[in-house]
Amino acid sequence: MTQPSDQSTALDNLLTESRAFPPSEEFAKQANADASLYEEAATDREAFWAKQAERLHWETRWSQVLDWSNAPFAKWFVGGRLNVAYNCVDRHVDDGHGDQVAIHWEGEPGDTRTITYADLKREVSKTANALLSLGLETGDRVAIYMPMIPEAIFSMLACARLGLTHSVVFGGFSAEALRSRIEDAEAKLVITTDGQYRRGNPAPLKPAVDEAVAKTPTVRNVLVVRRTGTEVDWTEGRDLWWHDVVEGQSEEHTPQAFDSEHPLYILYTSGTTGRPKGILHTSGGYLTQCAYTHNVVFDHKPGQDVYWCTADIGWVTGHSYIVYGPLANRVTQVVYEGTPNTPHEGRHWEIVQKYKVSIYYTAPTLIRTFMKWGHDIPAKFDLSSLRVLGSVGEPINPEAWMWYREHIGGNRCPIVDTWWQTETGAIMISPLPGVTAAKPGSAMAPLPGVSARVVDDTGTPVGKGGGGYLVLDKPWPSMLRGVWGDEQRYRETYWSRFAAQGFYFAGDGAKYDSDGAVWLLGRVDDVMNVSGHRISTTEVESALVSHPRVAEAAVVGATDPTTGQGIVAFVILRGGASSEEEGAALVKELRDHVAKEIGPIAKPRQIMVVPELPKTRSGKIMRRLLRDVAENRQLGDVTTLQDSSVMDLIKSGLAKSS
Ligand code: WTA
Repeated sequence: MTQPSDQSTALDNLLTESRAFPPSEEFAKQANADASLYEEAATDREAFWAKQAERLHWETRWSQVLDWSNAPFAKWFVGGRLNVAYNCVDRHVDDGHGDQVAIHWEGEPGDTRTITYADLKREVSKTANALLSLGLETGDRVAIYMPMIPEAIFSMLACARLGLTHSVVFGGFSAEALRSRIEDAEAKLVITTDGQYRRGNPAPLKPAVDEAVAKTPTVRNVLVVRRTGTEVDWTEGRDLWWHDVVEGQSEEHTPQAFDSEHPLYILYTSGTTGRPKGILHTSGGYLTQCAYTHNVVFDHKPGQDVYWCTADIGWVTGHSYIVYGPLANRVTQVVYEGTPNTPHEGRHWEIVQKYKVSIYYTAPTLIRTFMKWGHDIPAKFDLSSLRVLGSVGEPINPEAWMWYREHIGGNRCPIVDTWWQTETGAIMISPLPGVTAAKPGSAMAPLPGVSARVVDDTGTPVGKGGGGYLVLDKPWPSMLRGVWGDEQRYRETYWSRFAAQGFYFAGDGAKYDSDGAVWLLGRVDDVMNVSGHRISTTEVESALVSHPRVAEAAVVGATDPTTGQGIVAFVILRGGASSEEEGAALVKELRDHVAKEIGPIAKPRQIMVVPELPKTRSGKIMRRLLRDVAENRQLGDVTTLQDSSVMDLIKSGLAKSS
């Protein structure tokens, strides 16, 4: 495990940051949340969360707020019953807001759809009726492998409506990644499209499903939305067109209430081993925290704001802050299908201007990309509608924070740097935009109702100025309820590191500054963060060694100015390479191989062919030293190496080949 101090030396300069930006009086006056929330939550946490749960419509009220008697398995709002889709769709229509736009959808090629809450109710009901006609029953799992089109959201909500558990798999993942996720969840249905638009061109998607499903006997049907018109292979009896199955369905469907702890979805995320974990989220507590945080962190005003979260529904941010939280809060939101530079680098700002977006939530990697493209690009558009800016996915460096504030926010919008994880389900640490004097680069403080601490190696909380590991010391409503089908892994991954204290181990390093503000310092385990996407080093290593020419591989995340971290792989070739050309060709082949095995996001930035790997006496690869090489740094301590000449060998080999 990397010591958090490794990260903190690299990031020490961050902590000298002394600028702070309090909200304007005008903003503070109209804000949804004020400072009294912290006090209220501290006085009686459970009463506080019960009050937040009142944001939802419950068919049956709960009898107990939290049952933690079987820790680390939490139950929230015990005995309560609700329908998640009813809360996100129907109740807004019932309350007289059927004509309000729920989704301004913008396709990459420029086609658009305007979907009101009444439309959304009809579409979700038809989709639910279609899923029923396919014989799916409450509790069954459905895999969703789709680009950012409205049908993806209809599908998620239709599952929620029927008590089916969805497993959304990012459309950029490979057939193999999809297969393993379908297999682990034993999904009965896959919903997909013929193809997806990527950087202006249609790319096929269904072939990956065909390949995956050939090896997953649990799948009975594949439901296919026509998006790009790309020709597809067809398996009669198994494959069904969306327009044949969904379009003719009744627009009426009466939702039924489910238990507060009914499984809502599984979302796979990278861990420290090669096999992704299926993070399980349930209904009542999850939706409560999504709705609460979306309301207070983004200061969202239903019927007035236009909100845009740029995430993909393949990630947790898309689940909690495109689908569940915002729709529960009767949002009007933009959903954009494509890439930020199609057809030009001002696409996002053009969309902000067109729809008068007032709340914009994105990732630091994209902010740094915008910086690279130049501030003259956003300057060409009218961004005066913006009033709150958000950031998520990785630490945001002060420079990017300041650029975001000035060039996007016109020095007037509060920025909320939101720390959370797939496992936490919803935002945990963040400024409140009308309350907090935010410091560029700091997530500041746990939200009211959330309890987090920074502890040292022994689990003892550190004080102001101290650093260590981030832990969550009290259960929270949207917390994961386990790892799908693997209780042991749940206990080991999150609850064993500080078992004596009963703390949840987040896997992130953190530090308090002298004012007690929290600074996140990146992962302390073997998980890389590339453009805000979690990828485990082991996962990429297994993909590499699955290639016949690779004898051994070690992967590290090296600091990258745009993507946060870049994947750098060191490989030992079987039989070596006979010439430089062969070596170069092989490196290209290996990069493509990883893209095929996991997905293009996991493609190493760089692959270095080496004669040996640095190992400790117990045989553990010393990634720290490889990171030094990858980042062109002087080597750290090599005394624990089994053979200290290995590093010389690696470095001289690399010097020769470069
Ligand atoms: C990192 C994304 C610093 C962190 C919602 C965490 C952050 C991992 C921040 C979870 C932030 C996320 N500041 N680091 N504001 N937000 N992270 O599961 O390392 O894809 O553990 O969830 O991203 O990534 P995940």
